[in-house]
Amino acid sequence: MNQTEWSNLPFGYQKTNINIRSYYREGEWGKLEFSDSEYISVHMAATGLHYGQQAFEGLKAYMGNDGKVRLFRWEENAQRMQDSANGIMMAVPPMELFKEAVFNAVRLNKEFIPPYGTGATLYVRPLLFGSGARVGVKPADEYMFLVFVSPVGPYFKEGFNPVSIMVARDYDRAAPKGTGCYKVGGNYAASLTAGEKAHKEGFASALFLDAREKKYIDEAGPANFFAIKGDNYITPLSESILPSITNKSLMVLAEDMGMKVERRKIALEELSEFDEVGACGTAAVISPIRRIVDLEMGTEWNYCLDGKAGEKSSQLYHRLIDIQNGDAPDKFGWTTVVEM
Ligand code: PLP
Ligand code: COI
Repeated sequence: MNQTEWSNLPFGYQKTNINIRSYYREGEWGKLEFSDSEYISVHMAATGLHYGQQAFEGLKAYMGNDGKVRLFRWEENAQRMQDSANGIMMAVPPMELFKEAVFNAVRLNKEFIPPYGTGATLYVRPLLFGSGARVGVKPADEYMFLVFVSPVGPYFKEGFNPVSIMVARDYDRAAPKGTGCYKVGGNYAASLTAGEKAHKEGFASALFLDAREKKYIDEAGPANFFAIKGDNYITPLSESILPSITNKSLMVLAEDMGMKVERRKIALEELSEFDEVGACGTAAVISPIRRIVDLEMGTEWNYCLDGKAGEKSSQLYHRLIDIQNGDAPDKFGWTTVVEM
């Protein structure tokens, strides 16, 4: 691929050289296996297929201008996968297993790491699912852990340009005491109808509200939501959203910039009081939001009236990607160089 092709890469799957697997059997995780096949052989009664015993992660490797490849906060992804595993009663992949699989997946696919300056990155997708057979509803006794990679561009085709999103009143992706705080496939299945409806109406994503009262903002499709009001960075506190590693990092960066961070419930009506709003996540990075539409209530909120991302969102975005790309000092110790 030439520089232009790398720069125009969509967020999608691309075949690479090697993926990495480990099986949990008889109470133990087995040695890492390296495969060049894109296929896996799965028992037809696997709980991952029938009862949604499945979780995944998403992190990125970044090629620096110095030729070094960095992973961003991989320990947080490892921890979250452990939380997801515990949350739906799956075998827990140890930190060391997660690390070895992720680092080897990057190393063994190095020609797929997009060059510095293209805006593209190597997306790393760890996957865990119940591979043991069950017919009754019970956790499996066997699990498969797998890591593949794919070079990707921005999740929203707009990149850092502002997007429009649509309030999903007719759908919930997760319930208050459900699995919304875990990165399990069922949450994404539950979000598909709302997401496709939003796309069909010309929006980049659905904005989910809390399922109990339909009053507070939960999250923006596959990304957390944040707002800027004066010097405050405000983001929802909710038990049904994914604890985003990007959002966690932006909260630290906002504080470092002298802003005040508020994690609390955000009522939809508060949207009229915000200066800037955005969606954040590994895939989305920061997507500034220019318009939020609540079709059922006939309301809309507009931002970025000059067509550009707001000042604070831009500062946060650049601070974050500069650390990820290795352009700024890693003062919080968030990146790990992958020895090639
Ligand atoms: N919320 C959902 C539902 C997601 O799928 C993601 C993506 O991982 C995020 C938020 C953002 O999380 P992170 O910043 O850890 O990628
Ligand atoms: C991510 O940001 O890593 C995601 O997982 C979002 C989506 C592709 C599920």
